[in-house]
Amino acid sequence: MERILVIGGARALGAAVARRAAKDGYEVVVGARDAAAARLVADEIGGTAVRIDLQDETSIAAAADRLADGVDHIVSTGSAPHDVRAAELDHAKLVEAVTAKVIGPMLVAKHFAPVLRPAGSIVLFSGVVAWRPGPGSLVKGVTNGAVEYLARHLAADLAPVRVNAISPGVIDSGAWDRLADAKAGLLGKSAAGTLVGRHGEIDDVVEAVMWLLRAGFVSGETIHLEGGARHKSA
Ligand SMILES: NC(=O)c1ccc[n+]([C@@H]2O[C@H](COP(=O)([O-])OP(=O)(O)OC[C@H]3O[C@@H](n4cnc5c(N)ncnc54)[C@H](OP(=O)(O)O)[C@@H]3O)[C@@H](O)[C@H]2O)c1
Repeated sequence: MERILVIGGARALGAAVARRAAKDGYEVVVGARDAAAARLVADEIGGTAVRIDLQDETSIAAAADRLADGVDHIVSTGSAPHDVRAAELDHAKLVEAVTAKVIGPMLVAKHFAPVLRPAGSIVLFSGVVAWRPGPGSLVKGVTNGAVEYLARHLAADLAPVRVNAISPGVIDSGAWDRLADAKAGLLGKSAAGTLVGRHGEIDDVVEAVMWLLRAGFVSGETIHLEGGARHKSA
């Protein structure tokens, strides 16, 4: 049975990937910075839980130690948005945002390199905003853009382990529920900005992740799941 570690696996897209992987017969390790939240999902799907905080290298090293008998796949959904204009940047939040998307996954690669099985893979999360600059999306755009390069360079570094990224458009993953009444407006606007005329659903992402785990001839790529948004003229 192949073992998959899902970092950010306690909620939203990460939890959906963990649930589907369990259903598809993977041995799932749910990783999250909140160990109790990870355990809840792990108990539900018959997996195990590990505390892993992308901002804390010690926790990454400890998780790799715990899983030293081997991991086939790692999916990292971690993000720490800092959606402000340049003039409002907060240094600590900026570092957190870069760490969640770039430095943390690099440290995951560092500590899990000896643990990852050669036929395995890593899936990282970018986002369409990297290709759609606009006021207030500076940090999200740059950190998600960096993920595309991270996938390429990690793929070369960790080969034959494959490393790929998924770049979603707006997905109704649960993450937008915090917008309350404004959520419908965001989803509608995002649908209008695609070629397919809809926002993304959790299954769009989960299907692509599951495919990438098995796509043995795909490495260093970013898969765009945004309904053609980058190709739609304004
Ligand atoms: N949903 C969308 O519309 C959309 C669009 C484009 C890109 N994406 C990308 O897709 C990925 C998943 O997004 P989502 O919709 O599932 O919601 P999200 O709220 O962006 O999910 C972020 C995940 O990262 C985890 N996380 C944050 N900081 C962490 C840390 N220091 N260590 C470990 N985990 C940490 C969170 O766990 P906690 O429970 O601990 O907070 C959560 O599981 C993200 O990278 C996001 O940028 C999403």
